Amino acid sequence: MPVDISADFLELSAARLRSAYRDLWVLPVAADFTGPFGLPAEVAGMPKVGFFPGSTIGNFEPDEARAFLRHAATILGDGAVMIVGVDRIKDPGVLHAAYNDALGVTARFNLNLLRRINRELGGSFDLRSFAHYAFYNCREDRIEMHLVSRMGQRVTVGGETVAFRPGESIHTECSYKYSPQSFASLARSAGWELSATWSDEAELFSVHALRLT
Ligand SMILES: C[S@@+](CC[C@H](N)C(=O)[O-])C[C@H]1O[C@@H](n2cnc3c(N)ncnc32)[C@H](O)[C@@H]1O
Repeated sequence: MPVDISADFLELSAARLRSAYRDLWVLPVAADFTGPFGLPAEVAGMPKVGFFPGSTIGNFEPDEARAFLRHAATILGDGAVMIVGVDRIKDPGVLHAAYNDALGVTARFNLNLLRRINRELGGSFDLRSFAHYAFYNCREDRIEMHLVSRMGQRVTVGGETVAFRPGESIHTECSYKYSPQSFASLARSAGWELSATWSDEAELFSVHALRLT
């Protein structure tokens, strides 16, 4: 049961999976996973495993991550297991290099937000006048991504005018990092007990199995 807010893309992926794995039962659910949602009636009463492996959990604020895990507990029900991938707290130099990659992929990803605002919300951002800026905030255990205005400028979005001072930034994304201990404590506060942890040798990334307490 793949869950995604992007319904067209989800249907396309589900169709591909069905044709690649003929015996697999694929029941896509187009939903916003930040809130509670229902599962298809076909699986009522079956034991369930939630699978959220790609570290998207780190893009939530800790309170939102807790709410997400609480909703998951309600949706999956008694006896559920949840498998979650979490990017670990590590040398800030490694994180810095990843979020400021030499090919500029992350910078393009970040600036793409302005392109989409221009296209979808009638914005007037000049992408050349904003700079990608990412750094590790070790007090909050998170990478912060910003777009910094290279100059004083005015931009219109949806008929509103926004003024930027030179160096003023738009905070576009956070990516929280967790130790196994800090993630276990977050999970516990949402009703889940850590039952297993797998990690790579360099301890850069972990996958945790959680059980409902
Ligand atoms: C970075 S990708 C997923 C990465 C990886 N598959 C993972 O497990 O973390 C983010 C995906 O989440 C979907 N998504 C983002 N926000 C969502 C939301 N609020 N509800 C449901 N799906 C969402 C996007 O459409 C996209 O397909």
